[in-house]
Amino acid sequence: MVKPKKETKKYNEQSYYWGYISEAEAEQGLKGCEAGRFLVRSHYSSQATSVWLCFVSIVREKPKVVHRAITPIGKQFVLDGKQDKCSAIHEVVCFYQDHVIGNGHKLAKGVPRPTWFLRNCHIKVEQNATVLGGGNFSTVVMGKYRNQDVAVKKLISSEDKILKEKEDLMKEARTMALLKHPYIIKFHGVSIDTMPPMILMELMAGGLLSHLKEEGPKIEKGEKVLYCWQLASALAFVAEKKMVHRDIAARNCLFNVYGILKLTDFGLSDTETNLIAYCTSNDQMPVRWMAPEATLPTATFNEKTDVWSFAVVCGEIFGNGTEPLSHFSDNKDIMEALLKAMKIPPQPNELHRSCPETPPEVAINQKNCWEIDQNLRPTFSDLAQRFDKLLKNMYPPPLLEDMSTSKMKRVKPLTIAEYELLNKYHLDSENDDYFDDDDEAMSTPAQRRKMNRKQK
Ligand SMILES: Nc1ncnc2c1ncn2[C@@H]1O[C@H](COP(=O)(O)OP(=O)(O)O)[C@@H](O)[C@H]1O
Ligand SMILES: [Mg+2]
Repeated sequence: MVKPKKETKKYNEQSYYWGYISEAEAEQGLKGCEAGRFLVRSHYSSQATSVWLCFVSIVREKPKVVHRAITPIGKQFVLDGKQDKCSAIHEVVCFYQDHVIGNGHKLAKGVPRPTWFLRNCHIKVEQNATVLGGGNFSTVVMGKYRNQDVAVKKLISSEDKILKEKEDLMKEARTMALLKHPYIIKFHGVSIDTMPPMILMELMAGGLLSHLKEEGPKIEKGEKVLYCWQLASALAFVAEKKMVHRDIAARNCLFNVYGILKLTDFGLSDTETNLIAYCTSNDQMPVRWMAPEATLPTATFNEKTDVWSFAVVCGEIFGNGTEPLSHFSDNKDIMEALLKAMKIPPQPNELHRSCPETPPEVAINQKNCWEIDQNLRPTFSDLAQRFDKLLKNMYPPPLLEDMSTSKMKRVKPLTIAEYELLNKYHLDSENDDYFDDDDEAMSTPAQRRKMNRKQK
């Protein structure tokens, strides 16, 4: 019998415990680590949950991750059913820090889980929590993280699909963890210590699409151009990270509690190199927003396929939330029309048109984004600069108090001073090279508003 060590914390309270991650994720977590480094994970199945010790060993002179089950025997635990019995899983770990486990080595230090793997004790989601929205796979409800209101995205999958959909949700979380930007939804982290996993993010006050439908005709052009600029800036950052969003639409833009527009829903996002065509039926593809080449079975996705969708969102913004290509009733007809436009020589794109309320300068940008030849479409960095110039020279945004978003029910509009502080926060933290005070083309809305105020 192994003597218990002094430490009494349970295994699932240790920093080496990564929760219900997959074998592949464990290997990713241990990539590049020296022999002996380890983590502990749980594996979910409908029959029973198991706990696994994953460590780096040297096999044929190369590092390799070995996965070994820690199995319960009565009230005790053993590794692969072989070694000395321990009264707790943490003791099994401690035992192999003192005894050889791999090819002549012991366990070294555990690899701490990422900081965005949140502890369950800080998360509260009531059974009957207020539902904020959702789709086929997930629902978004209100919850608390460290007593702060948050939005919680959780799976609603059936038992047979849960493992696959858990992977998808984790992928979405990994993407969100990479994307810290003032116009991208703030990600708190993921809950993975219990099943099903949940994504925790900032609680938003409302959606762009419903706001356009309700208030659209009353929203000043300058404010609409500001939305376009915010979205283009967010997407320039996504592109800089070599990521593709793939589901850019007004329904996936939300306003935070200060009325700031942010891009959300990274469920279909991935790095450029990983992207494959949609493995879903035509009915489920957002074809009204998709570039023609993205609808092909052999589609590849990149910044330029997102650029096309961005121009469709500009259309939703200036069309007050009307459905894109509303003269088509079904996706099949749209796909046919897109295919026709791609014929060689390319047919002029007759499909998308700017609505009459669109300022001509915005309409030109849309036309460029809807070029059949990807190479002729602008980049997001071009677009962000173009919209920035429009805000500065032609369509200044309204004063904060006159913004339509300031009147939204759950928005607490900021004062100019607070707005500037918020931007300073972004300046000081992760985005210091993004919002550069000296960079004329990228001045913040707060700076522009100040100028705007001076001009009046
Ligand atoms: N952070 C949030 N705060 C408030 N509501 C949200 C938040 N995230 C999502 N929602 C609501 O849930 C809906 C679905 O969320 P989304 O992330 O787009 O999931 P899906 O992949 O199902 O489309 C959104 O359209 C919005 O109404
Ligand atoms: Mg969505």
